[in-house]
Amino acid sequence: MSVDIRSVITGSGSALPKQCVTNAELAQRVDTSDEWIIERTGIRQRYLASDDETTSTLAIDAARAAIEDAGIEAASIDLIVLATATPDNTFPATATKVQHALGCNGGVAFDVAAVCSGFLYALTTADAMLRTGMAKRALVIGAETFSRILDWEDRTTCVLFGDGAGAVVLEARNASESEAGILASRLHADGAQHDLLYVDGGPSTTKTVGHLRMKGREVFRHAVVNLADVLGEVIAEAGVSVAEIDWVVPHQANKRILDATAKKLGISDSKVVITVDQHANTSAASVPLAFDAARRDGRIKPGQLVMFEAMGGGFTWGASLVRL
Ligand code: ACO
Repeated sequence: MSVDIRSVITGSGSALPKQCVTNAELAQRVDTSDEWIIERTGIRQRYLASDDETTSTLAIDAARAAIEDAGIEAASIDLIVLATATPDNTFPATATKVQHALGCNGGVAFDVAAVCSGFLYALTTADAMLRTGMAKRALVIGAETFSRILDWEDRTTCVLFGDGAGAVVLEARNASESEAGILASRLHADGAQHDLLYVDGGPSTTKTVGHLRMKGREVFRHAVVNLADVLGEVIAEAGVSVAEIDWVVPHQANKRILDATAKKLGISDSKVVITVDQHANTSAASVPLAFDAARRDGRIKPGQLVMFEAMGGGFTWGASLVRL
């Protein structure tokens, strides 16, 4: 592997469905309350896709915003890695639809399935491909329509999720030219924990799409431990101190998980980007959605050190430290 290539984030974008549903509105069709949802999760509202909005339409909108932000021609993108657990179709990959809509046909385009950790898996895969010279300019997208796989009769899960998409442009740069880029990443999976968070259907089993099932308390417990561990690994690999990190952009599952993880790691709450109140849990989209929100409102600035982290079904989990 070439040692002097680094993958640099040069743009970001995001997209949300047009329909915003507050907790109070949800409580009219589900046996729940605004108070319960806020107290247990920090969620106040979520965006839900209408029939004319799909994972690919959200991904395309987020990708276009990221391309504009980076100031590049869409045709120059030679790699698209799209993280989703809710693709438009079983095949082909939703990434190929995005590629065609953007007009960069001919390069590499594929999906990765790592549920809520999907963006971390996609980012790390694209980074490895850029550093080995397989591509020069990548789009890394997290896009989901979890509303399509929720059991709306199950109040323990349906109140937690939302739809959306986020994207970044990742470019191969000579490491000697700037300090920006992905500095260290770690990914993990533990298939033994399948039954704690999964979808009870699929083309090869029930031949249906199925619904999300989760043992929330146990997921919570594993999430805090696994995230603190992987953050420690990335910090050690990059040779930085916790104090040097400017921002943590975590997967937005639940404010209590975010608070507990930050506390375990000794990172101040004021350095944690939180959008779960606005977007709920958007699975693979949540990290790039939160990142784009914090870049666009001016919190995250060029030169800063940003940690991405996520954990999801599988279990899968990972973290990545990036200099902007
Ligand atoms: N509205 C009102 N009451 C509810 C609701 C609801 N939507 N859902 C559950 N309850 C009730 C339960 O029935 C139960 O009632 P009971 O005591 O009479 O039996 C009570 O609330 C407590 O239920 P618990 O499941 O024990 O509540 P808990 O405090 O564990 O909170 C939650 C549930 C929010 C799911 C929590 O376990 C959690 O956040 N887990 C993490 C899961 C997560 O975020 N997963 C996302 C995917 S994985 C990832 O992204 C990391």
